[in-house]
Amino acid sequence: MSQNLPRGAAVLGVGAYRPPRVVDNEEICRSIDSSDEWIRTRSGITSRRWAEDDETLDVMATGAATGALADAGVDPAALGMVLVATCTDPQPVRPLAVRVAAALGTEVPALTINATCAGFCYGLGVARDLVRAGTAEHVLVVGAERLTDITDHQDRATAFIFADGSGAFVVGRAEEEGVGPVVWGSDGARGEVLGLAPDWAAFRRDPALGRPAIEMQGRRVFKWAAEQMPKVAEAACKAAGVTLADVDVFVPHQANQRITEAMVKALQLPASVVVADDIATAGNTSSASIPLALHRLRTEGRARPGDRALLIGFGGGLVYAAQVITVP
Ligand code: COA
Repeated sequence: MSQNLPRGAAVLGVGAYRPPRVVDNEEICRSIDSSDEWIRTRSGITSRRWAEDDETLDVMATGAATGALADAGVDPAALGMVLVATCTDPQPVRPLAVRVAAALGTEVPALTINATCAGFCYGLGVARDLVRAGTAEHVLVVGAERLTDITDHQDRATAFIFADGSGAFVVGRAEEEGVGPVVWGSDGARGEVLGLAPDWAAFRRDPALGRPAIEMQGRRVFKWAAEQMPKVAEAACKAAGVTLADVDVFVPHQANQRITEAMVKALQLPASVVVADDIATAGNTSSASIPLALHRLRTEGRARPGDRALLIGFGGGLVYAAQVITVP
């Protein structure tokens, strides 16, 4: 590789796919004993998007990818790698990333990542390193989920939270560094607070157990995220050589508005920092939530080109990842 090529990596474009079907809290309360007020005050969610049967992960991921490529002005032929984060692919033996690459008309290396709600930030961390190492000139990073497929819609602990959608970034070579080093990790010892129950093996042995669905110990997840994630966010700023005072936009995984508020408080972010609030109308879309939230902030003009954005993903596993980016 020529030594004159820039060695920085930056986000060049952002794309989103939101299923058209809006499901409000009244509709959720037809299946669980709850209320619009309880859901709004406990989670910040007023409505969410649910995919129809024909809005497969492939449709949503390819839609978000196409949008990000158009926004970046990058042709699929210029991609060196397709990374797709998901924890809801029903066809893992034909990985989603490979299907998305094919839908885009390219045969480049394609890798599906499962780091649950941290999956997008994991993918972005890998993309940055691939670009900086010169392995790829452009990398597509997608987060795509159909969480409604693995939600028990009669479970009042989870039915109001999870939703569907996809978001994507194109990462490419740049003169100026636009993606800071990723700070990431896992905490498997505490993993039992969030998972599928029963798991697929148990269900296969005994279908009477019922179809696998997300089971969550909400309070414990909340405590872990609110206590541990501010430290990770701070470490990501340090790794990028900036301080929290340099952050213009905060885009945490849209898990729950109260977790976001707890992090904002712990980090003492000033009121001037724009804080993503996409969860209000998107619900929790796991790996898709961060690019979806940034897409909205850019579209609404609340995040502007050149702004410094702090991203942090966290979720089942438990896993987490954070980095600072420059908004394209
Ligand atoms: N509607 C109405 N009441 C409900 C309810 C619902 N959907 N779910 C639980 N309740 C009730 C409980 O029965 C309980 O009643 P009680 O006090 O009379 O016993 C009360 O609300 C509190 O239950 P609890 O489960 O302790 O609620 P909570 O305050 O912890 O809120 C969550 C529940 C899920 C909103 C909260 O724990 C949370 O946000 N956790 C993090 C979840 C998350 O972000 N997950 C994604 C990770 S990627």
